[in-house]
Amino acid sequence: MRLDKFLVEMETGTRSQVKQYIKKGMVTVNDIPAKSPDMKIDENQDIIKYNNRQLTYSRYKYFLLNKPAGYVSATRDNVHPTVIDLLKGELTRDLFPVGRLDIDTEGLLIITNDGALSHRLLSPAHHIPKTYYAEIDGYVTSDVVDLFKKGVNIGDEDLTLPAELHIIKADKDMGKSSVELTITEGRFHQVKRMFQSVNMTVTFLRRISMGSLNIDESLPVGSYRVLSDIELQRLQNC
Ligand code: URA
Repeated sequence: MRLDKFLVEMETGTRSQVKQYIKKGMVTVNDIPAKSPDMKIDENQDIIKYNNRQLTYSRYKYFLLNKPAGYVSATRDNVHPTVIDLLKGELTRDLFPVGRLDIDTEGLLIITNDGALSHRLLSPAHHIPKTYYAEIDGYVTSDVVDLFKKGVNIGDEDLTLPAELHIIKADKDMGKSSVELTITEGRFHQVKRMFQSVNMTVTFLRRISMGSLNIDESLPVGSYRVLSDIELQRLQNC
């Protein structure tokens, strides 16, 4: 790859800016100041530094974000901040969220620039399980567990696919419950609509897993980290 192309891809600056940086001796290749923008480099082997800071190239990036409420799962929005805005200091130009969580939903969201992985995880054919922790206005009983196992009518053409509902706590007097629900589809507002179908309301929703990947409990809401190699490998084999 040409050195100037690499520097632009790493969002060091525009093509004309990076030419100036090279001219000024601000870019080194293996600790030797680079002389020419068209110099060929091996982006996987050579050590490229700009302003003494090493630029590490990897084509694909994978982040695990613990999404807070108030952010939209999009790359751009005219009204609300986006989940990409939370990746401060990263090179975010080509990053996007894998699927959507509602603006008021928290929890696990993968952010990447790997379209193939995203497609795999979201493809309806793959039935990747997604588990949510939910707080419910309503007394959730084993009847609801059975109903969700069979599939419910949420106003679409087809019933929902069998979903696994686990009741963590259900208070009959208060009419409140907390549950974990695993679904293998990704229909619009699916969890909220499933509870609506039994006349209950989701008051809090957090995604806690997607495929093989679990939310990192040590990751504060609003924070993110890079996926580990093992997490990535497992996701790719989901
Ligand atoms: N189901 C919902 O209703 N909302 C989400 O954000 C995710 C799943």
